[in-house]
Amino acid sequence: MRMLQRWMRRLGMTLLLPVAGITLLSAQPVQCTGPYRGLPEDEMERRIDTLLSRLTLEEKVAMCHAQSKFSSKGAERLGIPELWMSDGPHGVRAEIMWDSWLYAGWTNDSITAFPALTCLAATFDPAAARAYGRSVGEEARYRHKDILLGPGVNIYRHPLNGRNFEYMGEDPFLAARMVVPYVQGVQENGVAACVKHYALNNQERWRGHINVQVSERALREIYLPAFRAAVTRGHAWSIMAAYNKVDGAWCSENEMLLNKILKGEWGFDGVVISDWGAAHSTRGAALHGLDIEMGTGPGRPGVSPKNYYDHYYLANPFLEELKKGTLDVKVLDGKVRRILRLMYRTTMAPQRPLGRKNNPEHLDVAYRVATEGIVLLKNERRFFPLEDKEGLTIAVIGENAVKKMTVGGGSSELKARFEISPLQGLQNAYRKATIRYAQGYASGKYAWDREVPVEADTDSLREAAVQLAQKADVVLFIGGLNKNHFQDCEGADRRQYGLPFGQDALLDALTRVNPHVGVILISGNAVAMPWLDKVEGVMQAWYLGSMAGKAIADVVEGTVNPSGKLPFSFPKRLKDNGAIAFGRTSYPGDSINVQYKEGLLVGYRWFDTKKIEPLFAFGHGLSYTTFRLLDIKSDRKKYASGDTICVLVTITNSGDRDGAEVVQVYAGKPDSHVMRPLKELKGFRRVFLKKGESRRIVIPVAVDDLAYWDEPSHDWKVEQGDYLLYVGNASDNIARKIRITVGP
Ligand code: GLC
Repeated sequence: MRMLQRWMRRLGMTLLLPVAGITLLSAQPVQCTGPYRGLPEDEMERRIDTLLSRLTLEEKVAMCHAQSKFSSKGAERLGIPELWMSDGPHGVRAEIMWDSWLYAGWTNDSITAFPALTCLAATFDPAAARAYGRSVGEEARYRHKDILLGPGVNIYRHPLNGRNFEYMGEDPFLAARMVVPYVQGVQENGVAACVKHYALNNQERWRGHINVQVSERALREIYLPAFRAAVTRGHAWSIMAAYNKVDGAWCSENEMLLNKILKGEWGFDGVVISDWGAAHSTRGAALHGLDIEMGTGPGRPGVSPKNYYDHYYLANPFLEELKKGTLDVKVLDGKVRRILRLMYRTTMAPQRPLGRKNNPEHLDVAYRVATEGIVLLKNERRFFPLEDKEGLTIAVIGENAVKKMTVGGGSSELKARFEISPLQGLQNAYRKATIRYAQGYASGKYAWDREVPVEADTDSLREAAVQLAQKADVVLFIGGLNKNHFQDCEGADRRQYGLPFGQDALLDALTRVNPHVGVILISGNAVAMPWLDKVEGVMQAWYLGSMAGKAIADVVEGTVNPSGKLPFSFPKRLKDNGAIAFGRTSYPGDSINVQYKEGLLVGYRWFDTKKIEPLFAFGHGLSYTTFRLLDIKSDRKKYASGDTICVLVTITNSGDRDGAEVVQVYAGKPDSHVMRPLKELKGFRRVFLKKGESRRIVIPVAVDDLAYWDEPSHDWKVEQGDYLLYVGNASDNIARKIRITVGP
């Protein structure tokens, strides 16, 4: 608590400064050992050659699979260290036992919990992603982890996927722009990012075996771009192969995904690590791209906990095939070369920062990403900001106001040093108003593999909340989903689109006794809102980590002006979503295959093209001030492949307080000779403006980003002719369309 109090004082002092709504205070690591430098590439390759010639066959095979739950062997005879890995994308997971999923009970492994990646995506702020990656990588370094098992960049295909909260939304361009700085930030600590889950792991239902059938265009234009950017621009040092199959082949032994595209076309020179238990055969893993096999279960004949690491597909069975000559040693050396390269970039790097954790700068990054990512969805009669004033009584209602959200959710769960709850944050922020709390509803306890029944008298909880609401001036309802099984949690998908635990009925009851209700949803997925017309304000607050309550309170009370934008669409009804619209074969599949029948039309691409109005659109997010976009034009009319289109906009903060806006540029080609979505995000820029300030900004759009994947030639093609550029501050709020031409 002392840390929290010290931190609150510090934040109070910090907040006297203008709250930067746009550029993030970069958490410059304390350079204990100077900036990270790996070996020069040629020197590294020379050393790898030398080690390869000195390692025995057995030592090399031992490096290709786990020795414990989260580590793989080095070669102690030669002083080659082990590789230590840890989840996850939002912070460094607590220490796990050597050989089980149980926590080890250490007392030195609490950390900073950063906001979930949906929140980071909602900032539309690549500088935030860099600071985030640098900070979480620094904590991983301090915890002696060589590989951080994150970020996840699987595309948000529908609102039921249990792990959408871990990913960066429905748009490949946004995910690609945000994953690159995250990866770079992590790796500047000498820690490898492990971008996951490659690829098409867009549901948890039957994740261990479902076979994804997808068109080549959708694969290339929607599901691979974030991975491609992480590799070709972020230079990720490792990739995690997903559990599922793609077009009939396991992702962990997939010739097309791993050898042809990842290692061939994209030139990936790092290590492919299987998801835990995702390997399925020796020859498949050996020949089709897997480098380190992790988490394979003991469940095979003759295998006991004593010896089951020897029975991994890439353990003794692999060694025997190499000795028999039915597998070439070159296959093994190819894997070990990549593993040694990752080691020289991490655990064997000559100069590596020392790392640190739970320091004020990391908490500052967590706070600023949280405040930048919160999305104001609705704000009638200026319900928000809710001013702190004498005589005001605020009824805070909802279990999510007090529920710890850094625990649960599966492998991304964390042991945070502390977590400020929304109720705590509000109680700290409101010094004049009176805050009263009622739980209102109850969910079951967290269990990673099953739903625990609710053990509460829900009627009396609701009755107490209604009575509190009746006597209050305003109601802040804090609900949403949570990290329990069948909610926002790994291992299962949600079973309903609506809010669980009777929240809709409770909200109905509250709005009947009090006309001033504001809703704060804490979740990582879209939900139905049958009560939307009855409430005055709605805020989408994500799983925000250690600083959750402070961030929520500062946005609610108005210290911070919200500026987040939705990284995925909220459909009015579940069946409005493209993946769901085609029925069970399209989601969740028939338990063997799932067919991505909506093709390219994922998220807003579906809503735009099918002219279905969403509840809230991709890119939507309100502010406490207002912005005007004027004098929108492109620098030229005609362009060629390789050019950059400069979209010029004068943006004015026409309101009465400072704030940030995200100007978005979408591109469409009405007369295209191939099927295309109406428009697709191809540029964006986050701008912070003081009240009354105007600025002329440029948003670059690469002509080559307008390319489509041409299936007959299996290559990208930039179509010539006219394009429309849609410029606005949301996918459904376009200020102007400008026509440009791409010529020879
Ligand atoms: C899990 C997850 C993966 C995680 C790994 C280790 O099954 O799919 O994201 O990194 O196993 O916990």
